[in-house]
Parts: sequence; C-alpha cells; structure tokens
Amino acid sequence: MLKEKIQDLKKEKGAVILAHYYTSKDVQEVADFLGDSLALSIKAKELDAPIILFAGVNFMAETAKVLCPEKKVLIPVPDAGCSLAESCPAEEFAKFRKRYPDHTVVSYVNTSVEVKALTDVCCTSTNALKIVESIPADQPIIFGPDRNLGGYIRKVTGRENMILWDGSCHVHEKFSLDRIRGLKASHPHAKTVVHPECPAEIVEEADYVGSTAGILEYCGQSQAQEFIVVTESGILVEMRKRYPEKVFIPAPSVHEAACNECNYMKMITLESILACLESETPEVLLDETIRAAAKRSIDNMISVR
Ligand code: 13P
Ligand code: SF4
Repeated sequence: MLKEKIQDLKKEKGAVILAHYYTSKDVQEVADFLGDSLALSIKAKELDAPIILFAGVNFMAETAKVLCPEKKVLIPVPDAGCSLAESCPAEEFAKFRKRYPDHTVVSYVNTSVEVKALTDVCCTSTNALKIVESIPADQPIIFGPDRNLGGYIRKVTGRENMILWDGSCHVHEKFSLDRIRGLKASHPHAKTVVHPECPAEIVEEADYVGSTAGILEYCGQSQAQEFIVVTESGILVEMRKRYPEKVFIPAPSVHEAACNECNYMKMITLESILACLESETPEVLLDETIRAAAKRSIDNMISVR
C-alpha cells in the first residue's frame, strides 16, 4: 500500500528516488537507482528530473545538491547524519588546515558541505588511492576525516607525508576481529570483503578492500561461492538479488550476533519517504558561496583520470 502510493506520487511529480545500498530492503524496493555514495550524486546530476529524493544520509543528499543546484533535492530524514562526517566539524577542520598551510587537503566524501568547501580534492573509497597518487609524491597532504581509510592509503602508497584527521565510522569500527577469524576458519573457501572504513587489523583479513560498489562487483567477478561481508548489512539485499546462487555471510560486530547496521541509514522508512514526497519537504538548501567552493573539490576529484 505504502509502496504503491510512493510509486504513484513519483509518477505524478516526476520525482526520482536514489537510495544507498545501506538502506533497508523496503526502501531499496521503491528506489529508481541504487548505488554507492558518489555514483548516486553523479546520477542525480545526469537525471532529467525536477525532483530528486535522496534515500541516504545527509552528506549524500548535500553532495547531490552541490552537483545539481537547479534541482529540488529532498531528504526524508535530515537528522540521518553520519558519525564519520560528524567527527569532523568544519570550524575544527579549518583550524587544523591553518596549521599546515602548504598541505593539499584531500577529504573523503563522507563530510559536510562546509568541510568540502575547505578541501582541495575529494575522494571516495573507490578512488582514494588514485586521488592520492595523482598528487606529486613530495607534496604533503592532509587526509580527512577517516583515519582508517587514510591509514590504509598511507600504507599502500608508503606515503609518510600524509597527516590524518582522527575521525572514524562507528559502524565500521565495531566489527569483531575474533569473530571474523572464526568465520574464516569455519568457511575456509569464503572470500572476505572489507570496506576500508574498518580499522587496519580488520582490513588485513581481507581478500578484497573497496567501496560498496567495488565489493558488489568483486563478488560478481570472483569464482568464489561464499563471502564474508565486512560492511553494513544493507548491502546484503543487493548482493543476494544480484548473485542468488552465492552465499553471503555478514560479519558480526563486537556487541551482538547480528551484523552491523548504520542506525542513520535505517532512519529512512517508507513512511518518511511518502511524507517527504507529499509535502516536497524537507529540501536540501545550501549557501551558494559554500556550495560553489564544495563543488570545486568534487570537480577536482572527477577530473582525476
Ligand atoms: P560507499 O561510498 O562505499 O558507498 O560508502 C559510503 C559509506 O558511508 C560507507 O560507510
Ligand atoms: Fe556514515 Fe558509517 Fe553510516 Fe557510512 S555506515 S553512513 S560512514 S555512519
């Protein structure tokens, strides 16, 4: 019933729903496009639709608005934040940046629009390595806000001149190393796929490290039939849909038997989507100076080939 109402309203208003892989199954089922954080924002830009409803967390909807200011971008639950973005307040980041004026600032897209405006070039978990490698080796870098992604890139590149902001994601920090090792022992043929927001000791257990889109692609291309999935549980919906013959085992957190969930992503419900479509609020609105500065850092990322 709710789903039908949403589909009817979408048609009536010419609205398109973009949803991140971490949203609930119900939400994913009413989406027109599913994707990782950056792919969805780029999709928002390409779409010929007057209204974009972003079923994801706040920074993702903001990024879509940065890239397509002429469109109405709706966010069903503006309180759906992100612990990683929140671990990097813009005022603190501005002070940090001032201490290292000769450094190039690279920021993960999981940041507020204000932090993006203080950034030279953004990156995602897919392209972080490519972005850092595009900066001359002798040029020092500030990498924020994820110390885990930054630490991983620093290790892979051997780049000592990278200063890390001390932020992290509360979901990806909580996977249990012991339980992952236990799963690997009981499923010796399984491949372990890990999001780089996890701490180094978890990443070391991985056969593949990458973004949500990268993990999905790897699981399709790999000959393996079983995968231990070390990222937020919502991604299992798309994994099982795309590859029904394969087995996906969610990695457990330190706290409970269940896999980790992002409480922010799960705030988005069918009810909130319907209400948002009906009232065409809340809408993402950005200060134009900040938006333009943030856009430069995203454009700089997109231009790195
Ligand atoms: P992706 O860009 O890989 O979709 O990741 C977004 C995110 O929030 C991971 O926690
Ligand atoms: Fe943010 Fe972590 Fe949720 Fe991703 S999983 S949206 S990084 S809080």
